[in-house]
Amino acid sequence: MSIISDDDFLTENTALKSMDSAKKETPVNSESNDYDRNFEDTIRPKTFDTYIGQTALKNNLKISVEAAKLREMPLDHLLFYGPPGLGKTTLAGVIAQEMGVGIKITSAPALERPRDIIGILMSLKAGEILFIDEIHRLNRVTEEILYPAMEDFYLDMTTGKSQTVKTMRLPLPKFTLIGATTKAGELSSPLRDRFGIVNRLEFYTKEELTQVVKRTAGILDIKITDDGAETIASCSRGTPRIANRLVKRASDFAIVKYDGEITEKVAHEALEVLKIDKYGLDNTDRTLLKLMIEKFNGGPVGIETIAAAIGEDVRTIEDVCEPYLLQAGLIQRTPRGRKVSPEAYRHLGYKLKGFSEQTTLF
Ligand code: ADE
Repeated sequence: MSIISDDDFLTENTALKSMDSAKKETPVNSESNDYDRNFEDTIRPKTFDTYIGQTALKNNLKISVEAAKLREMPLDHLLFYGPPGLGKTTLAGVIAQEMGVGIKITSAPALERPRDIIGILMSLKAGEILFIDEIHRLNRVTEEILYPAMEDFYLDMTTGKSQTVKTMRLPLPKFTLIGATTKAGELSSPLRDRFGIVNRLEFYTKEELTQVVKRTAGILDIKITDDGAETIASCSRGTPRIANRLVKRASDFAIVKYDGEITEKVAHEALEVLKIDKYGLDNTDRTLLKLMIEKFNGGPVGIETIAAAIGEDVRTIEDVCEPYLLQAGLIQRTPRGRKVSPEAYRHLGYKLKGFSEQTTLF
């Protein structure tokens, strides 16, 4: 049982995401800032029909949404997991739109104090969606407040001090919690078990990303050739957020240096300036692979050692770089650490010498 004191209401809640724009450019492969979020917001699909990819998941969600509407009940709590940039927040927005309900968006690091989550829960209207990003980072107290809120829609509160303390049960409107995480494995089992629907988002195919690229170019009112769209799609690491940022950068080139159309040539020029190669790898990825090859003979090497050696945060490597390098077959996870694949040696122009029989098998 979570007991929350009335002191928890005394200050203003700052946990809901601010949408103020801080105008600054970020690398295409980094996590998003407010400026990116504003751009992302303008191009986000709002309905299932305009949301490209994740077809199986989308079809299941359509049924759940339809059933909830027929029953006139909120949707079950939902958990989305998968690498960043694949559309977890976008899907939550689509669900809210299709359900015809409001959505409040926050993230676990913003829910530091009990009053942060309590304030949000108490501001929810019946049927509304609460979206919590990076939900694996919730602290224990906040998590325990969420358990009865998710399960039975109430909060346990205490009023008064020491001897005169009274407990009361505060009912909450029925709501849907949508949690998003890049690390489903780090969720505690009591929290994970309270989600009725758990879904993994997959990397997008080149064809799906080509559609995303064309759609975004259309919204930005920029012409794009098929070749231009395919070039951007194939360098976008299976990730719409990256594809969209590349469209934006390529459109700047098209407008400033060419006649306003993103052609294959324009796309290549933009990618070259951004130092993104045909695999969609950027400088950080290449530095990481080269370091593993040159300093650790291709691995296996532990993630902490790699992070320290290239001066990156372990979490950035695990969440941002590694999922795609694994998916593209450029690195492999072994019980003793990460190992570079022969494909990565070839791609970076290294000879394959030094590979034992076993390592050349994959
Ligand atoms: N922009 C970002 N993700 C998208 C998606 N899945 N479909 C269409 N446009 C997008």
